[in-house]
Amino acid sequence: MEKTKPILLTGAAGFIASHTARLLLQQGHQVVGLDNYDDYYDVRIKHLRIAELSKNPNFNFIEGNIEDEVLLKEIFSKNQFAAVINLGARAGVRNSILYPKKYFNTNTLGTLNLLNVMLEFGVKKFVLASTSSLYSGQEMPYREDIAGNCPLSPYAASKKAAEVTCYSYKHLHGFDVSILRYFTVYGPSGRPDMAIFRFIKWIDEGKPIQLFGDGLHSRDFTYVDDIANGTVLALKQVGYEVMNLGGGNKPITMNEIITMLEKLVGKKAIVSQLPAHNADMKSTWADISKAKELLGWAPKISLHDGLERTVKWYFENQKFIKDLKV
Ligand SMILES: NC(=O)c1ccc[n+]([C@@H]2O[C@H](COP(=O)([O-])OP(=O)(O)OC[C@H]3O[C@@H](n4cnc5c(N)ncnc54)[C@H](O)[C@@H]3O)[C@@H](O)[C@H]2O)c1
Repeated sequence: MEKTKPILLTGAAGFIASHTARLLLQQGHQVVGLDNYDDYYDVRIKHLRIAELSKNPNFNFIEGNIEDEVLLKEIFSKNQFAAVINLGARAGVRNSILYPKKYFNTNTLGTLNLLNVMLEFGVKKFVLASTSSLYSGQEMPYREDIAGNCPLSPYAASKKAAEVTCYSYKHLHGFDVSILRYFTVYGPSGRPDMAIFRFIKWIDEGKPIQLFGDGLHSRDFTYVDDIANGTVLALKQVGYEVMNLGGGNKPITMNEIITMLEKLVGKKAIVSQLPAHNADMKSTWADISKAKELLGWAPKISLHDGLERTVKWYFENQKFIKDLKV
């Protein structure tokens, strides 16, 4: 990917995009980051991420909404982009049940807006973040070709709609699209609404862990630097491909995660069990052979090392995290 032109990275204040931006900058790319500081979770951590990235002169941040086509046109008229990486989204399965329209407006129509403006300005490379949530009910490990017609939540449905919209832009207009289905991402500066972030904080603060279900739900946890690396590799020309980015290991139960975190934090967890949610998948596990073959990608960080780095970040930022809403 040429480095004379900048890359537009949406959702730049978000967890995964901020790590992706850091990697792009390390590799010598110029990055224009776009984010509307959506308040689904505590925005103070988003401001912190942007403040960190803004120390690099090759990073330029714009506060704005991907649903705003006029703004997008203005941004594209000022920058000749090499590619667009769309990580800007409303994430969160359970929240999408309460606000389905918001999810479709951002995740589906926001994606359509980006594709339309790219078409107008002659930008053809698009990377879209999608999700393992599309695989419910399928046989594990999940392969890309068996999937994807059983979204259990408006969140998953809005992502599926974005995926297939991209296909029509590839077919009609010759776009080159990498769709990345991420599997439960964790790491430093993570999302305060997600289990690992909350569990570390609650264990350390001696507060009860709110555990949905019996703790036997399992996930294919993936370290954020591995996800950022796969996302940058996906800038490669592929035609139109859907690829899983996951840890690729046997899924780990929430109970196992709690035990590992207790050891790393050095305290016992108090567990408060809540009913399982019917929009939550029981288990996820990625077959990652396609991303290996097409992108030369493989995760490098083991779950133990990834959790260790995450807990280390927590203690380094404990004062800031103490007041953060989770
Ligand atoms: N974290 C995971 O485990 C995971 C798993 C599967 C897929 N994903 C996908 O990866 C992407 C990044 O997720 P994340 O975990 O970093 O979430 P995140 O919420 O931290 O990041 C998303 C960012 O998008 C921004 N945003 C929301 N609506 C916007 C809009 N209309 N215009 C501009 N910006 C907007 C938010 O402010 C936020 O900063 C999302 O598409 C998400 O659906 C994440």
